[in-house]
Parts: sequence; C-alpha cells; structure tokens
Amino acid sequence: MKIAMIGTGYVGLVSGACFAEFGPDVTCVDVDAAKIERLLKGEIPIYEPGLDALVAKGIKSGRLSFTTDLAKAVSEADAVFIAVGTPSRRGDGHADLRYVEAAAIEIAKSLQGYTVVVTKSTVPVGTGRRVAELIRGANPAAEFDVASNPEFLREGSAIGDFMRPDRVVIGAETDRARAVMQALYRPLYLMETPVVMTTLETAELTKYAANAFLATKITFINEIADLCEKVGANVQDVARGMGLDGRIGKKFLHAGPGYGGSCFPKDTIALVRTAQEYGSPARLVETVVQVNDTRKGAMASRVIAACGGSVRGKTIGVLGVAFKPNTDDMRDAPSLAIVPALQDAGAIVRAYDPAAMHEAKALLPGVHWCDDAYDAAVGADVLVIITEWNEFRALDLDRVGSSMTQKVLVDLRNVYRAEDVRALGFRYTSIGRP
Ligand code: UDX
Repeated sequence: MKIAMIGTGYVGLVSGACFAEFGPDVTCVDVDAAKIERLLKGEIPIYEPGLDALVAKGIKSGRLSFTTDLAKAVSEADAVFIAVGTPSRRGDGHADLRYVEAAAIEIAKSLQGYTVVVTKSTVPVGTGRRVAELIRGANPAAEFDVASNPEFLREGSAIGDFMRPDRVVIGAETDRARAVMQALYRPLYLMETPVVMTTLETAELTKYAANAFLATKITFINEIADLCEKVGANVQDVARGMGLDGRIGKKFLHAGPGYGGSCFPKDTIALVRTAQEYGSPARLVETVVQVNDTRKGAMASRVIAACGGSVRGKTIGVLGVAFKPNTDDMRDAPSLAIVPALQDAGAIVRAYDPAAMHEAKALLPGVHWCDDAYDAAVGADVLVIITEWNEFRALDLDRVGSSMTQKVLVDLRNVYRAEDVRALGFRYTSIGRP
C-alpha cells in the first residue's frame, strides 16, 4: 500500500508518520520547499511529544518520505489524504476551503489507477462530494472514490490518539473504497478498535458534532463553576459527582478559562454556520460559542479583582500562554484575550511558557518574557496560572512568594489546593472553588 499525504501541517505530519508505522509507504507532500528540506533532515516544525522519534524512525525504515513533487506521490498512491489547512474564513466564520479545493484539482491531474482520495482535514458537510466533483471535472477519466476520515487527535497526545483511538470514523460508499480504508487501518482492526463505517456526510458531521459536544461539556462546567462560586460549592466535586455517572463521563469537565486551540473555536463556529445555512439552527452551540468568548474576557476581570480592583502600574506574572500544556500552539489561546486586557488596564506583564514563547512573541507584544516560572514571579503583585503545564504543578511556592511584591495567586486551572497555598500566606483565587 502506498499513501500520499497532502499537507505536512499538524494533522498531515502526525497522520503520515503514524501510517508509516502501521506499514504502508507514506509520502508527505507540501508546497513549502523549505519545510520539506527541514523534514528530510528530521527537523520537526511543530512541538508534539514523540513525533521527532517517529519521523526519524519512518525515514530510517524507508517507509516515510517527504517531497514537494505532488504529481509523483499521487500517481503512485493507492490512497491520497488531503490534510491541508481549513482556517475560518474572515468575516463569516465558514471554513475556508480554498486549499482543499486547490489540492483536489492538483491531485486530479496526477491520479493513475484506482485511488481513494480521502479528506482528513476537518471539512464542512458536503465537501467530500464537492471534492469528487472537482476531480471529475479536472480529470473525467480518473478512476477514484472519495472517502472522509476525520481525525480526533489532541495536540500533545496526538500519536497515542492515532495509534490507540477510541474509534475510527470512515465515510466510504463503495466496496472498493472501504477495502482500501480497511487495509490502511488493519492494525487497528486487529486491535478491535471500533470503526464506524458510514457515508461521506455522516462522517463529516460526526467530527463537528463530537467537537461541539466536547466544547459544550467544557462550557457547561465553566458556567457551573461560576455558580459554585456564588453558592459556595466546589466545582471539582460537582464534576466528579456528575462524571461518575457513566452516561455523563468524567472527562472534559475541568473548569477553566474557556476552551481554545485550533479545533474547538473554529469547528463550533463552522457548525453554527452550516446549521444556519441548512435552516436547522444549532442554538445550543451558538450559545456555547458566545459564552466561551465572554469567559475569556471575564478572566482578566477576575485577575483585576484579585488585585483589589486595579492593576494600573502593577506587575503581573503569567505562567503558561499556550492554549493547553504540551504544545506550542497559540491558536485561540485564552492568554490572547487575558494578557492584552491586563495590559490595557495598565499592568506590566512578565510571562513564561515552556514551549510557546517563540510563537507568542509576535502575538503578545509588550510582554517581558522570562527564563522560568520563578523568573516570572520576580517583583510581581500577582501570579496567574493560565496554562496547566506539569512544571507549574509543583512549584516551590515559598520561593515564588519570597520574590513577589505581594503574595497573590490566581489559578485559572485549579492546579493547587487552596488550603496549601493559603497556609503559605498567599491570597488565592481559583475557578469554582470556595
Ligand atoms: C481537540 C479535540 O480533543 C480533538 O478530538 C480534535 O480533533 C481537535 O480538537 P485539542 O484542540 O488538541 O483537541 O485539545 P483538547 O485537549 O481537546 O483541549 C481543547 C481546549 O479545551 C483547551 O483549551 C483545553 O484547555 C480546554 N479544556 C479541555 C478545558 O478547558 N477543560 C476540559 O475539561 C478539557
């Protein structure tokens, strides 16, 4: 089996390296020649635990290669995956399909022999059929089927998610296409991973429904956290008490500053737009989007309140700016709403993140970047945990406190226990806990 993976962004690179581990020969294609050069040398453009070793292993085994030559990769492939970007279109929030469409037309021209063209990027319902139309238009003689195979990879644990997924969703409508997809996922079939084999539209919608549901779950617990604060309840115990009900499940019930990242914000908005377009509004998801946006702004007010109502001229130490731990990804990170709001209110911000500072520099101007968590606390009137990196979970709080101007800790991820921190003389605010 041979695979061509079009697009070596996050999804393409992880999927390509993992498929090569499963057995097929994988050629990853990108238009960015400099990126391909770097990848050939084993340099990984993104931060993802384990990916460098997996890519190196793939290259060494000869099963993983990188090229800018789309035509050659496609002509040799049994399956071509489209894993190019689908950003939100400016203005209306619809997924921007220009890269997917351009890829489809390029692929069409080089297809040889029966090939399954698979959309891997998250694409709106109907895109699979549109891709088929474009390919047929560009190359009427091509022998192909289109399949949809959405990814459910979490940044930071993407390799594990690919190798040991809860399920695989495949939209494939001919026996031939289904057989190719089954062959590609053979190791997972052997592991008895559930596979949902369905139609194109169903597979496409499943991805949006799953992400919107998870975003809803987070937003739900965040609102419960706010209520907990008012009534004097503890959201972590509420989440545990709810989550132990097997129908609810305990994951994705961590209250925090609001969800961010490359998927939830974009996919919830895209689902809202699709639903409106088809005259079947997704009102619950519309509300989730609004509540989550408002929440990120409200987090800055929480910090200001913890400082006694004003941060003008005060120094704020920030721990973590990535949208979540184990990634350098800044897309829609809560820090992008919180830090500028604090600066606008007159604060001086010192910040540290173990991986994302390089990405964050251009996005968060005026921030003083620090060497580590302790450095971020020096001279600070308040220390704010925005991202729950492991290294922030066991700080020497005595050392932290001794270098601060005032001992105030705002923990937006509920990393610490209130009694422990208060015993050390800190004023401590967290999310949804007394
Ligand atoms: C997500 C989905 O999990 C994945 O299946 C999909 O394919 C892509 O989007 P990812 O964006 O990498 O993955 O991160 P995830 O771990 O799901 O977290 C998303 C956001 O939700 C983060 O900002 C995180 O901090 C937040 N979150 C998550 C919470 O605030 N509380 C939770 O309980 C869980």
